[in-house]
Amino acid sequence: MKTPIVCVTRQLHFSSAHRLFNQAFSAGKNSEIFGKCNNENGHGHNYTIEVTVRGPVDPETGYVIDLKVLKSVVDELIVDDCDHKHLNFDVPWLTGIIPTAENLVVAFWNRLQPKIIQGKLHAIRLYETERNFVDYFGE
Ligand code: NI
Repeated sequence: MKTPIVCVTRQLHFSSAHRLFNQAFSAGKNSEIFGKCNNENGHGHNYTIEVTVRGPVDPETGYVIDLKVLKSVVDELIVDDCDHKHLNFDVPWLTGIIPTAENLVVAFWNRLQPKIIQGKLHAIRLYETERNFVDYFGE
């Protein structure tokens, strides 16, 4: 029988502050493009991140990847660095990016992807609010 390929997902949460602005824009243009997210002293979000790994089901364990292992990798590489931090100032590996959900999800992917050694990182979904979320598949 062919080995089945399954996607497994772990969801985690963190809370961070950020401010969206582009140094190259005037104050007026920043405010026009980023709205409330441009508020000078930043503001917070309760983020939800969903990390999906795709791969063959190991016949001995029945796992694609042990979700406890996936959780600890995401905690170590992302959540511990970002939780209760200001993303514009406190996280060295986010320096120089506008911390939109789009840019964050790409930065998270680049950090996680080399550390997923069982199965392959398939998708990261990042919720900035309940209704606003982004997906990245590594392209
Ligand atoms: Ni915001």
